[in-house]
Amino acid sequence: MDEIKRIEQLRKELHEHNYKYYVLNQPTIGDQEFDFMMHELQDLEAKHPEMADPNSPTQRVGSDLNEEFRQVEHKYPMLSLANTYNEQDVADWYESVKKGLAGEDFEVCCEMKYDGLSISLTYVDGKLTQAVTRGDGVHGDDVTANVKTIRSIPLVLTPPASDNLFAAPAYPREFEIRGEILMPWNVFERLNKEREEAKEPLFANPRNAASGTLKSQKSSLVASRQLDAYLYYLLGEELPAEGHYENLEVARQWGFKISEGMKKVKTLQQIYDFINYWDTERKKLPVATDGIVLKVNSIRQQRALGFTAKSPRWAIAYKFKAERVCTRLNEVTYQVGRTGAITPVANMDPVQLAGTTVKRATLNNEDFIKSFDLHIGDYVYVEKGGEIIPKIVGVDIDQRPIIAQPVEFIKRCPECGTPLVRYEGEAAWYCPNDSGCPPQIKGRIEHFIARKAMNIDSLGPETVDDYYRHGLIHNIADLYDIDVQQINGDGSRTKSAQRIVNGIAASKEVPFERVVFALGIRFVGETSAKLLARHFKNIDALMNAGIEELQEIEGIGEVMAKSIITYFHTEENLKIIERLRNYGLQMELATQNSQLSTKLEGQSIVISGVFTHHSRDEYKIIIEQNGGKNVGSISSKTSFILAGENMGPSKLQKAEKLGIKIVSEEEFLEMIG
Ligand code: IVH
Repeated sequence: MDEIKRIEQLRKELHEHNYKYYVLNQPTIGDQEFDFMMHELQDLEAKHPEMADPNSPTQRVGSDLNEEFRQVEHKYPMLSLANTYNEQDVADWYESVKKGLAGEDFEVCCEMKYDGLSISLTYVDGKLTQAVTRGDGVHGDDVTANVKTIRSIPLVLTPPASDNLFAAPAYPREFEIRGEILMPWNVFERLNKEREEAKEPLFANPRNAASGTLKSQKSSLVASRQLDAYLYYLLGEELPAEGHYENLEVARQWGFKISEGMKKVKTLQQIYDFINYWDTERKKLPVATDGIVLKVNSIRQQRALGFTAKSPRWAIAYKFKAERVCTRLNEVTYQVGRTGAITPVANMDPVQLAGTTVKRATLNNEDFIKSFDLHIGDYVYVEKGGEIIPKIVGVDIDQRPIIAQPVEFIKRCPECGTPLVRYEGEAAWYCPNDSGCPPQIKGRIEHFIARKAMNIDSLGPETVDDYYRHGLIHNIADLYDIDVQQINGDGSRTKSAQRIVNGIAASKEVPFERVVFALGIRFVGETSAKLLARHFKNIDALMNAGIEELQEIEGIGEVMAKSIITYFHTEENLKIIERLRNYGLQMELATQNSQLSTKLEGQSIVISGVFTHHSRDEYKIIIEQNGGKNVGSISSKTSFILAGENMGPSKLQKAEKLGIKIVSEEEFLEMIG
C-alpha cells in the first residue's frame, strides 16, 4: 500500500479506536497496539508534510501556546438556566410551559446537569474547527488546541458511509454542539494527591481543576490531565430532527458522548421520579453532577416559548441539595501555621462524600468546637462547601457514647510545647515561640521565598524543610550563608546547587517594598508592606516608628501597628535585619531615585490585555515611576485604561459605559516619552 493511503487508513482506524475507548468505554485493541499505530502515523506524517491535517489523531497533543487565548464572539449567545431547588418550583415551571403552549401536549427531556465547564464546539464538514468557552456568554476564549487533547471529543465525525460499522445519519455542513468539560473524580483525586505530595495548592473541586487545566497555555499539560466531555445541546440551521432528544441520539451516532441517563417523559410525576432516582444513582457516575436539567423536547415548542433576558423559558435546572454524611469523630489534631496560629482538625472515619473520600475536616478554632459541644466519639455531619476542606455542620447527640469525653482544646503547642496564648479580640490560640517553633520557622522561610515576596523560585518548601532538618538554616538570613559545597550532596549536584545559590543571590535586587512584606510581620500583607515602605522610605525609619506615626498612615490599624512595634522590639529580628542589610538586600525605597517624571501625576490607571513591548508588571512600575497610580478595577475615578490586545469584554463594556478613555500601548509610550 502506498504511504499516502496508509496515512488515511491509520487516521480512520485510530479515530475509531479512540471512539471505542473514550466514548463507548469498549476498546477492541490493547494500548500497545494503539500506540504502535499512532507511532506509525506520526512517522508517516513527518515524511509527508503535504498530508498535514489539524484534525489528524496525532494532533491531539498540540504544541504549547504562548499567547493568551483569542476571544471569539459566539454565533448564538451561551445562556444559563434558571435554577430551582424543590418540587414546587418544578411544578410551577411545568405549569408555565403548559400555559405558554396553550394546552398543547408536550414532552420533557430529562438529563443530568453536569458540574463542569461549558464549551461550544463548531464542526464544519464533519471536522472540529473551533472550541470556545462560555466566557461572558457573548464572547468566549478560543481553546481549540486544548480541547483537541480531550479524547472523547471527536476531531472528525463518523462519516455516513454504508460499509461503516458506525454508520450514522448525515451531519449538517456546519453546526454547533454544546456540552460540559469535566475532570473525572478518579483523575481529580489522583491529581490532588500528587499536588499534596509536591506541596502545591489543591483544587477545591473537579470543576476548578478542569477550568484551571483548560485555561493552561500548555496543551501537553492539558492532555495529561485526562479531561472528559459530555454534550447536551445541538444548534444549527439544519438539524437532523425536530426533537432535542432525537437530535442528541443522532449526535451520539456521530461519535459524541451524550448523557447516559437522558430520558423523555410527559408527566410531572415522571419528572419527580427521574429526579429522585438520580439523586442517589448519580453518586455512581464517574463525573460530578449537581442537578437535573429539564427541557421541552420539541424544537418548535421551544421556539414558541422563547427566552427571557437570561435564560430559556423552555428549560430549567433542578439543583440537588448539598450532600451530607454522618461519620465518627475519632481525634482532634492541631496544626501550627506560620504565624503560630493553631488550627484544630477533626480526624474522622473515612466516608465517601460527593465523589471523594473524606477523613478530615477543619474545626476552625476553640469557639467552633464549643459551639457544637464536640465529644470524641461523636457522630458528626459533614458537608462540602466550595472549599477544599470539608466542614462539620452538626452533631448527632443521640448517637453520643455515654462515656464520651468533651474535646479539650490543647494548652501547649503540639510542636514545641510552649504554653499557648490567646490575644484579645482574636478567635485563634497562638504559639508565641516564634523563634523556636519549627513550623513557624519553616513557615516564615517559605513565606520569605514566595513569589510575591523575595521570589526565590529555585527553592521550594521541601528544600526548606530539608535544609532546616539538616541544621543548615534556622532563619531567613541563614539562606544568604548557604554555599554550593554545603548543598551539592556527594558532589553530584553541583549544577542544581549553583542554581539555588544564584537564585538566592538574585533576590538581593528585590525592591524594598517586597522585602518588608517578606519579613513576615504578623498582619502585614502585600499592600500594607507597600504603604509602609513608601511612607518610611527605608528600614531604619520603619524600625524607629512609634505607634502613633504608624496608625496615622491610612490603611494601617491598631492591631497591625502593635504587631509592627513588637516585631521591631524583638532582639532576634533586629539581628536578622542587620545581617540582611550586610548581605546587600534592598533596605530603602528605590523609586526615589528612579522617579522618571511626573507626567502621570494624580492619574489612576487600569491595565488590561496583553502587551508587546513590556510585561504587565513592567507597566505597573513604569506608571509609578512617572507619578501615576495603578489600580485594579475600573470606576468613575479611573483616568484611563492602558489597553493591550484582547482586553476583556466586560472591562471594555464598563469603560464604554463610564466614558473612560482607552489608551493603546503605543499611545501610552508616546505619552510618557
Ligand atoms: S442546556 C440554553 N444541559 O448548566 C440552555 N446545560 O446554568 C443551555 N449544564 O451553562 C444549557 N448540564 O454549563 C444544559 N444537560 C445540560 C447541562 C447544562 C450542565 C450547565 C451549562 C450551563 C449551565 C446552565
